[in-house]
Amino acid sequence: MNFQELVKLSILKRLRDNIVSNDLAVYAFTNENINDYLNKLKKDKIDKVLTVLASGDHLYNLALIKPPLVDLVDINPLTEYYALGFKKALFKMCDYGEYIEAIYYLFKSDNYDIDIEKKFWEKLFNLIEEKYQPFFRDIITFYFKMQKIYKRKIRLMQILTKDYYYNEEALRLYNGYMMSEENYEKLKEFLDIVKVSFNKQNIFLEDKKDYYDLIMASNVLDYVIKREFNMDSLYSLYRSLRNSLKGDGIIMAHYIYSFLDKKTLSYKSYPIPSTDILERELKREELIWTDNYKGDKDAVLVLRKY
Ligand SMILES: C[S@@+](CC[C@H](N)C(=O)[O-])C[C@H]1O[C@@H](n2cnc3c(N)ncnc32)[C@H](O)[C@@H]1O
Repeated sequence: MNFQELVKLSILKRLRDNIVSNDLAVYAFTNENINDYLNKLKKDKIDKVLTVLASGDHLYNLALIKPPLVDLVDINPLTEYYALGFKKALFKMCDYGEYIEAIYYLFKSDNYDIDIEKKFWEKLFNLIEEKYQPFFRDIITFYFKMQKIYKRKIRLMQILTKDYYYNEEALRLYNGYMMSEENYEKLKEFLDIVKVSFNKQNIFLEDKKDYYDLIMASNVLDYVIKREFNMDSLYSLYRSLRNSLKGDGIIMAHYIYSFLDKKTLSYKSYPIPSTDILERELKREELIWTDNYKGDKDAVLVLRKY
């Protein structure tokens, strides 16, 4: 079964049996305070970035730094269609206020009307980059055909994503481009000038063709099997990425949610789930601290070449 058929199958399962398929689903939005940790980077110049694509928000938050070249990778091929096809077209279609309204409509509102959703896709379709249009034409047609039969109050993008990360307060805090109209306009300008390439790849395995100022891989450790994993194993896992850094380049290596619980002022004893790495070991490493929308402190582990 090819990728497109798998996507159709997950649509069918959701509409027919209400089974949520997580195999391919993409995070609709980031759940990391990317805006804040990028602001805290102590680096004058960032020309070349490698990032996991995921929801696309790592890429889109780079709009305020404006690197001219960004290489994107993800093991999930749907991220390319979601972030570079759908999400980019949505930015093109909407001004700031419309974007906020559109994502509320698409991911949160209970008000479901199939004709409104059809009109939305008719408008968006022509703004989707040509290379992604055949995929979307096929998927949209299939979805509306199935909706005629199953009539479920669920939108296409809620089936294709893990939409439960929609939280307007968090999204505004975590995404620089959502903080103000001015920043949103900067994102639109950035989209027209940045050169991106996408490869379906495991970021740890493939040889990199380039050297980077910044590598954003803060969201991949959860996917690694980590039995008896310690600080040494972590350094060796990231060895090939460290070799792909420019001399003063940095890696955003892992995002730690609620490392410090502000209410109890206690740290997580094992900040990286399923590893043996202790709080005190991690606190010896370079960390960028940031706030999360719950009021706790998150942190990003930073690794360098040397
Ligand atoms: C947990 S999700 C993204 C959520 C994340 N916290 C964020 O803010 O976007 C992690 C993403 O990394 C991708 N991924 C996981 N392991 C990877 C790897 N070894 N190489 C490339 N992509 C990977 C997944 O397919 C997924 O899109």
